[in-house]
Amino acid sequence: MAKTSARTDESRGFLAAWWPDQARDATQSVLVRYDRAMTKHSAGQVPVAAVRVRPMAERDLGAVAVVERASFANGWPATAFAHELANNGLARYVVLERTDELPPQIIGFAGLWLMVDEAHVVTVAVAPAERGKGYGRLLVHALVLLAEAAGMNEATLECRVSNTPARGLYREYGFYEVGTRKAYYADNREDAVIMTTEAFASAPFRTRIEALEQKLEALLPGAIAGMDLAAG
Ligand SMILES: CC(C)(COP(=O)(O)OP(=O)(O)OC[C@H]1O[C@@H](n2cnc3c(N)ncnc32)[C@H](O)[C@@H]1OP(=O)(O)O)[C@@H](O)C(=O)NCCC(=O)NCCS
Repeated sequence: MAKTSARTDESRGFLAAWWPDQARDATQSVLVRYDRAMTKHSAGQVPVAAVRVRPMAERDLGAVAVVERASFANGWPATAFAHELANNGLARYVVLERTDELPPQIIGFAGLWLMVDEAHVVTVAVAPAERGKGYGRLLVHALVLLAEAAGMNEATLECRVSNTPARGLYREYGFYEVGTRKAYYADNREDAVIMTTEAFASAPFRTRIEALEQKLEALLPGAIAGMDLAAG
């Protein structure tokens, strides 16, 4: 443990001397979290995950735009996310970043709107090179935890009928299809499938979430425990 602290102190000294303020602040916050996680890890409590979910911040928008452009043919511009973060009190956005790289690299994001008692999933995206590793699942899991913590009863979303990966992911999380919106997407007039969950409090949903939590914990050890969903 002492060895770990010495190494991170040394890193902080290096960073303080060479890095611009913003990168230094972001990196120091990661190092502090890393120290905390290592303390728990040494105590045998929680493994240290290589990825972390945390609230999206304005400084993330450049990296978010890169993932957005790679994920959606007609994606949002960075200004739309900036507007959401600054002005939409009902919106909650998270990013997924690799913490085994310094500075941490954003490889995904997700967001929802808190609509009275129903969470509306607005977006989920994982950088193409990082897909198929369970990160989409981790992001949807984070959205469910966020929605539950905000007092929502269930979640709903729209998805392109042709989006097989996303529909598979949402189905895994208990979203089932309740209808379609004809010609919903302006670019190609594609239909949207409307998907919704059972009530979060219902026994089937609880059973599903607990099983998914175990599956995720086995796939990405420490990633759920390491989530920071406090704001955003
Ligand atoms: C949808 C998306 C977020 C999935 O991310 P991911 O990190 O690859 O997903 P995961 O590795 O966590 O996969 C979770 C589940 O999703 C489903 N899934 C993922 N990729 C799939 C594919 N190519 N075909 C079918 N199902 C797939 C599977 O059910 C998978 O579970 P499994 O691994 O046990 O089979 C990703 O493909 C993406 O960013 N797509 C572009 C953006 C997008 O369409 N977002 C959704 C908007 S509605």
